[in-house]
Amino acid sequence: MCGIVGYVGHRPCRDLLIAGLEKLEYRGYDSAGISLLQDGHIDSVRAVGNLANLRAAVGLDGDNGDGGVAIVAPPATIGLAHTRWATHGRVTEENAHPHGDCDGQIQIVLNGIVENHAELRRELQAEGHSFSSETDAEIVAHLIERHDKGDLTEAVRAAFAELRGHYAFAAMHADHPDTLVAARQECPLIVGLGEGETFVASAIPAFLAQTRQVLLVENGEIVTVHASGAELTEAGGAPVSRESEEVTWDEDAAEKGGFPTFMLKEIHEQPDAVAETIADRLPAMDRVDLSALELSDELIAGMRRIVIVACGTSYHAGLVGRYAIEQWARVPVEMDIASEYRYRDPVVGPDDLVIGITQSGETADTLAAMRLARERGATVMALTNVIGSQATRDADTVLFTRAGLEIGVPATKTFTSQVAAMYLLGLWLAQARGTLPREEIAALIAELKGIPSKISTTIEAVDTRVRAIARSHAEARFFLYLGRNIGLPVCLEGALKMKEISYIPSDAYAAGEMKHGPIALLDESTPVVCVATESPILDKVLSNVAEVRARGADVIAIATEGSERVAEVADQILYVPPTDWILQPILAVVPLQLLAYHVARLQGLNVDQPRNLAKTVTVE
Ligand code: F6R
Repeated sequence: MCGIVGYVGHRPCRDLLIAGLEKLEYRGYDSAGISLLQDGHIDSVRAVGNLANLRAAVGLDGDNGDGGVAIVAPPATIGLAHTRWATHGRVTEENAHPHGDCDGQIQIVLNGIVENHAELRRELQAEGHSFSSETDAEIVAHLIERHDKGDLTEAVRAAFAELRGHYAFAAMHADHPDTLVAARQECPLIVGLGEGETFVASAIPAFLAQTRQVLLVENGEIVTVHASGAELTEAGGAPVSRESEEVTWDEDAAEKGGFPTFMLKEIHEQPDAVAETIADRLPAMDRVDLSALELSDELIAGMRRIVIVACGTSYHAGLVGRYAIEQWARVPVEMDIASEYRYRDPVVGPDDLVIGITQSGETADTLAAMRLARERGATVMALTNVIGSQATRDADTVLFTRAGLEIGVPATKTFTSQVAAMYLLGLWLAQARGTLPREEIAALIAELKGIPSKISTTIEAVDTRVRAIARSHAEARFFLYLGRNIGLPVCLEGALKMKEISYIPSDAYAAGEMKHGPIALLDESTPVVCVATESPILDKVLSNVAEVRARGADVIAIATEGSERVAEVADQILYVPPTDWILQPILAVVPLQLLAYHVARLQGLNVDQPRNLAKTVTVE
């Protein structure tokens, strides 16, 4: 979820590029950099931390911070700039973009993940290329160098053909002072067309103050950018003709990518967040690679159990993970709410793997629970979204989600990324412990790879219907969520979202517990949300739903497409695409996020900043 800005035109562009990066700051970043081309020479400057550090490093604030003069010559009229949210490699100046080829003649900026970076790096190193960063992105500069025969577009095209993954990048060459070339595979890329100047960026706010005329770049396309405009081609070279469009958003809407709220924008970013999280960790059709965790073979084989500690939404992601790990890897998993675990003198020791799930990496209770487990000899893993966060420093090993910055207080894309990471872990443990046949692992990997596009399909397919359901229940005084097994954590998460942003009391129950008390709550005015996706216990869920319906409650079911039986017992159905039943939660939660969202919006509530809540809970 990095930010890219490029410019070619008639104006000195250093300040334009940095101003563009400032407009992308809301996406979050940990370092930044800029390359400017002038007189056949490229100067690059990178800085860790915020843009003030980059401004100081280029001398924009008077000097470079060391009392030196500006390093970068201001009159350059072509350049690239980048804000990095680290995924591969630590947060260091060397790992910040732009990245160059061997002699710095080519510079690139990239957003996303190159999945086959390790094999390409090995090949390029064998050919004599030398690398100066730990990133997957640097590969792209060296690949362009490998194919450079004097035509930058063709060199980019050849490099693009060798890459696998989920990314967009832009490249500049010292021998081509009037051209930028950019390419898109899944991650966003937009061209801004001005008067005698052209921008290329990962998001419209980067150039909206300069031009409102945009040309969209689609997947698999390459764009060659000059001051006078841009030419699109397909990856194979065929020209693409597309009209430019005028953007009518104001700056506030632009920051939210045209969505009315950050929460809705982040719901729509889930396919990308999940795709980036699984990307290179699934390097082959039948292999999961989490070797970067460096867990010892003895621990993996002799593990007594896994204990997961977390709070709120992260706890719910852990619950989904528990089903996957137990089912696939046959390791017992214990779940605990971090604020309970830390105060209950837990029995934990050297044969245990303790996983602290925390998207921020700063939640006080989760950190305390992880520290306690570590003091007692357990191996502690952090599952977090934030490189350099406290959890990464307190853990023996770290598994990162790659959801980018989440601005809305309600966790959405970080939840689905955490669930995806738990699936990876479950499959990897199964592979290492030999508890699932290879073909079954391959089938699950294929399903997991298909999840990002199924999340997109789900959002598109259900949104209008969810709005209608929200309208019919916006006045409800209570929502009940029911599910069993893998559906239960989805219900807990749906109910948490509902109470958190709409302030309507909501509860989630294991459906089999209804008859032990909660059924007394139901009458004709109660909307009951049931997660009834395909699973070995669907019959059980359906008989619980029938009990609820008999009390007159209005049943809203989340079901798997093609599952006819659910229609017989539900008043309203929201379908999600079919997949392996253990993977269904990552799809089934999407309609529930949207339901809470639309109910809250109908009441005019601020979903991005609900009352009494902060994004990160660092107090005890
Ligand atoms: C709910 C939500 C919270 C967090 C919880 C833990 O939408 O965001 O419940 O999940 O505060 O935060 P992290 O994951 O940062 O430890």
